[in-house]
Amino acid sequence: MASLTPTLPPSVNIVNLSSTSSISSLPIWKKKSHAASKHGKPNHYYASRVSCKATDDDMKKPISPQNGHEQEAHLGMFDRRNILLGLGGIYGAAATTLGNNPFARAAEDCNDKPILAPEFSSCHLPNDLPSKPRVTNCCPPNSKDFIHFSDHLKYTSKKVRARRPAHILAYDKEYVSKFERAIAEMKKLPPEDPRSFVQQAKIHCAYCNGGYPQSPTNDKTLQVHFSWLFPPFHRWYLYFFERILAELIDDPTFAIPFWNWDDPDGMHMPIMYADNIDSPLYDCFRNRAHVPPKFLDLNYSRSAGDILADDITLTNNNLKILHTRIVDNNTPELFLGKCYHLGSEASRLHSGAGSLEIIHNTLHAWVGDPFMPNNEDMGNFYSSGFDTLFYAHHANVDRLWSVWKELDGGTRTDFTCKDWLNTEFIFYDQKKIPVKVTVAECLSDEKDLFYKYEGAENTWKDPNNRPTGRLPFKGANATTTLPSAPAAEDITSSVVLDSAKKFLVKRPTAKRGDNQNEILVIEGIEFPTDKFVKFDILINDDDADNCTPASAEFADFFTNVPHGKSDQTIKTKHTTNITELLKILEVSDDDKTILVTLVPRDAGEKVKVGGVKIEYAKVTAEIECL
Ligand code: C2O
Repeated sequence: MASLTPTLPPSVNIVNLSSTSSISSLPIWKKKSHAASKHGKPNHYYASRVSCKATDDDMKKPISPQNGHEQEAHLGMFDRRNILLGLGGIYGAAATTLGNNPFARAAEDCNDKPILAPEFSSCHLPNDLPSKPRVTNCCPPNSKDFIHFSDHLKYTSKKVRARRPAHILAYDKEYVSKFERAIAEMKKLPPEDPRSFVQQAKIHCAYCNGGYPQSPTNDKTLQVHFSWLFPPFHRWYLYFFERILAELIDDPTFAIPFWNWDDPDGMHMPIMYADNIDSPLYDCFRNRAHVPPKFLDLNYSRSAGDILADDITLTNNNLKILHTRIVDNNTPELFLGKCYHLGSEASRLHSGAGSLEIIHNTLHAWVGDPFMPNNEDMGNFYSSGFDTLFYAHHANVDRLWSVWKELDGGTRTDFTCKDWLNTEFIFYDQKKIPVKVTVAECLSDEKDLFYKYEGAENTWKDPNNRPTGRLPFKGANATTTLPSAPAAEDITSSVVLDSAKKFLVKRPTAKRGDNQNEILVIEGIEFPTDKFVKFDILINDDDADNCTPASAEFADFFTNVPHGKSDQTIKTKHTTNITELLKILEVSDDDKTILVTLVPRDAGEKVKVGGVKIEYAKVTAEIECL
């Protein structure tokens, strides 16, 4: 591949100071609370319930030259080639048979096999599309040339810009109209332009639904979810998306908003995305029961639907979920995800998501349209990028990565493993030039990428948001009340989660060291990729039916965002730090077993679990790469 020297239009470096958003002078910006209730709702707060084209009829129609036009019109283009090739065509992947115990391989050290940037020419029709997708080709325009990030920075403004909460920016008319103009310009670009909205949306599909091999010499499928690639991939994706928008409105200070869904004031779909059907920020393919002022439920499950709970209960539950998942998961492996390098078996065998990705999955499910065949747009990876809200959602995910590093007095660090640091991605930038980037180049939002987050309060950090136990627990020692709990080591084959399953899990016999976490590991979690999966993970709880995130017994949950076909299964594992939680549940060091209950919420009958165990693991940024 040849390196390319960019030709720089002279205007690019000029920072347009006069166009700085006026939000900084707004009083609401500085006040503690900016809830709609405090400042009055914009007149159009209650979104009109529009009738989108997503009808039952659409669900029944496969893409054809007749209706493909209508469907792709929403996406902004009509790709004739997709239709000629047909669905599930030459790349329709067969299910892969997995070995019995994929996690039993010998541990290797972090061993310098990073994922390298894919070549655009190696992009193919995605292996992991659901049936009846609305786009079938997710490849970007081809180009052999590329530059490195340092070259891109030579013609890109380094003035630090601030990303702010969407629920506050909604009151800044100047910002909203600028943002709308930028998105409108992006949507107007011809579909073959790599900066066009359609091409930007397809990036997610190509990297996440199996459009690329892991390297030119390795035909395993590249997958950027379910592992440590999740945070840096999306950080880079948003970086270029934002630089393109800034260029289109000729304002290098422009920054995208973030959906501050971890703040009580932000726990609803941001109004600017949902209140005006004519806005370029609007997307028809969302759950219409979840438009503002519907309150967000971070414990949402598709089959249970919206629970009957008031906003205060939901706020409380949401904050407790956030507190434990972000505060307790104190190593990069627990929070950011597990090792993934060249040769990792994804997309059929996923090393494991971190808790950041698991929490984020729920928002995909909550926003996606339940009346679309694959819960498009946000409810499926391939279509997520077609919803403008996706970028605001991921800006918040990205922000939480930065916030997480500041916890424990800033002692939390990213991985030091070079397989992670040297991982590469490639994106077209604002000048339509492909830029190769590495994970190591994006670790500081402000110092490396010149944006920062402002205006969020992170109330979930407050120790008051730690759930308390529903003591007393009678179970683990009073075996008569638990005749059905098998000891975890008795499980010789996988267990199907067709109903709540209980496991008596032995704790390691050696004493836990001071610098060690007690980690609950659920391994061999296997399910079809096209399903939204959710199961809850309870600890020492007698009454699974009535356990909510408000109590400490509700230790965690596992979720999956659909992204493949029904005959494709994946296998992954899930970990969570239960050290603090066990203290709250008054489990003493002498207690030899823990009762773990897995409660299926979505697609349980399709989910198998290979085992449940407890490990002591050092609090460290080091990682064993399997
Ligand atoms: Cu790449 Cu929110 O997913």
